[in-house]
Amino acid sequence: MLGVRGLGRCAALPRLRVREALRGQRGPGPVRVQGWVRSVRSQKEVLFLHVNDGSSLENLQVVADPSLEDRDLTFGSAVEVQGTLVKSPHMMQNTELKAETIRVVGPCDPWSFPLKMKKRHPLEYVRQFPHLRCRSNTLGSLLRIRSEATAAIHSFFQDNGYVHIHTPIITSNDCEGAGELFQIETSNEARESAEKAHFFNVPAFLTVSGQLHLEVMAGAFTHVFTFGPTFRAENSQSRRHLAEFYMVEAELSFTESLQDIMQVVEDLFKTATSTVLSKCPHDVELFHKYIAPSQKDRLEQMLKNRFMIISYSEAVEILKQASQTFTFKPEWGCDLQTEHEKYLVKHCGEVPVFVINYPYDLKPFYMRDNEDGPQHTVAAVDLLVPGVGELCGGSLREERLSFLESRLERLGLTDAYQWYLDLRKFGSVPHGGFGMGFERYLQYILGVDNIKDVIPFPRFSHSCLL
Ligand code: 4AD
Ligand code: MG
Repeated sequence: MLGVRGLGRCAALPRLRVREALRGQRGPGPVRVQGWVRSVRSQKEVLFLHVNDGSSLENLQVVADPSLEDRDLTFGSAVEVQGTLVKSPHMMQNTELKAETIRVVGPCDPWSFPLKMKKRHPLEYVRQFPHLRCRSNTLGSLLRIRSEATAAIHSFFQDNGYVHIHTPIITSNDCEGAGELFQIETSNEARESAEKAHFFNVPAFLTVSGQLHLEVMAGAFTHVFTFGPTFRAENSQSRRHLAEFYMVEAELSFTESLQDIMQVVEDLFKTATSTVLSKCPHDVELFHKYIAPSQKDRLEQMLKNRFMIISYSEAVEILKQASQTFTFKPEWGCDLQTEHEKYLVKHCGEVPVFVINYPYDLKPFYMRDNEDGPQHTVAAVDLLVPGVGELCGGSLREERLSFLESRLERLGLTDAYQWYLDLRKFGSVPHGGFGMGFERYLQYILGVDNIKDVIPFPRFSHSCLL
């Protein structure tokens, strides 16, 4: 085991990550590499190991004298190898590590270890082992891409003058008004000692969106964004819903048209995606080769072309004229169902489509009244993408005090939203914003069918492993 003594013994040699070793980022001289064994092949004259430390999809080949073989040197074990990097005689790799010593830091019984050597496990299989699946190639690539995509999204906003806001996770409001809230209570023990019924004096919930808090901040910083965990008690086992997911949200002051919002969505999507494609080509290739073979071409086309825009009313007309029969009959005033979203995206040529101007009665209180009729709409926008359906939801916000007051009055929400009305009393400006589901974004660019496979620890109804 790796103890203080072990650390001290090796401290003299420079430590190299597998990614650096593969790039040959080291001059001559001995180095040490630490990681987990992905394969062991013992031949009469030579012992081959593949070691991975999570820094890249590619493993480092270790070549050793068979005398270094140890019965604990098995698939899955943790090792530290000391040796010299040499040019590899193999076509497939540049560099390999010629080992002088191999130390098993942590053994692994390959018989009981759920992952098997050189086997491409189905995603459904590794989903049962959220504590171990990150050591599979697919989840390893996914999690590296997720990390790069997170950084790319932050960079996009920072580069464009947005201020990052940590919106709260615990909140006393239901932004979307859909009632899909997880209420927060103290545990029994804490409740017994508490004098008040509610810890916060008021009912408190896990946030369903940071939008209202972002609107507060857009009233001072003009352009703001947040990117954090979001919670919805949707009793859905679907392949695109989670109880805990990450949402990227932006809010823009002095914005009078949906066009401006859509432009930011499109720019964000294309910039983040191009960055991911250029920063993790091998990881992305794994998905585009083995998981969703047609996705690469589709994505390249998508990056070149403008997203389409249709109105909700046009969408309903398209659906009504469809030869396909839907489980939910398309009707003006009804929500677009998954089957409708799918059809619309297909009708538009399997490209991302913005649908704008939804019925007033379908949407939350904060959306801006278009004052049209007889089909009364609000300035809302959803982005639908192939294979996933709704990826983003946004709108212009109702900045006019009198409109907002009467809408809140009708909904019986005036008292709860006094502070929100204040924002319209003190320096109100036209503004708008949007939210993008981060897991759905990853699903779309990588062509992953199930949302549970693009988040490290999925939470959904009837399941909270670990
Ligand atoms: O369309 P939604 O509900 O929009 C809002 O919450 C706005 N307040 C955002 C804003 O304007 N600031 O959610 C935004 C996106 C959806 O389009 C979807 O991609 C994702 O969040 N999403 C989910 N992703 C995974 N699991 C769920 N249960 C999701 N619910 C929404
Ligand atoms: Mg929505």
